Amino acid sequence: MSSSIPEERTLVLIKPDAVRRGLVGEIISRFERKGLRIEVMDVRTMDAALADEHYAEHVDKPFYPPLKTFMTGGPLVALVLAGDQVIDVVRNLVGATDGRRAAAGTIRGDFSLSNRENLAHASDSVDSAKREIALWFPELA
Ligand code: TYD
Ligand code: MG
Repeated sequence: MSSSIPEERTLVLIKPDAVRRGLVGEIISRFERKGLRIEVMDVRTMDAALADEHYAEHVDKPFYPPLKTFMTGGPLVALVLAGDQVIDVVRNLVGATDGRRAAAGTIRGDFSLSNRENLAHASDSVDSAKREIALWFPELA
């Protein structure tokens, strides 16, 4: 039966470490096998201004300068995924922030040993998904 609740969208970034390590296909295939739909996908390189906007909540934190260097340091893959409760579903597939602590079976838990180079970003709420999709893909907003 169709639901009256509209399907959600989320913004995912497959980060420069994943591109460098050749893990893009592995990561996208996890989203596809879960049944999520790719609405748009593009290879981009984040510039300083976009980094500051995307990570607005973190710009004043001590970890931000090296995070910015990392995130602007090479191409990444930006995608919008759609599906039922996709925001929570994708956060669960990605796993906890620190790859050393993320559960096995998650993207970070299986492939990252870092609290910074942790392979993927995923929007954390309906409001952040709206904000981030408008930032990366204004044509979809
Ligand atoms: P955060 O929004 O807390 O994590 P998540 O990506 O799981 O939503 O932090 C954003 C990114 O900042 C995180 O993916 C990696 C980086 N980061 C650090 O480099 N050091 C830190 O101590 C934290 C908390 C995050
Ligand atoms: Mg976050």
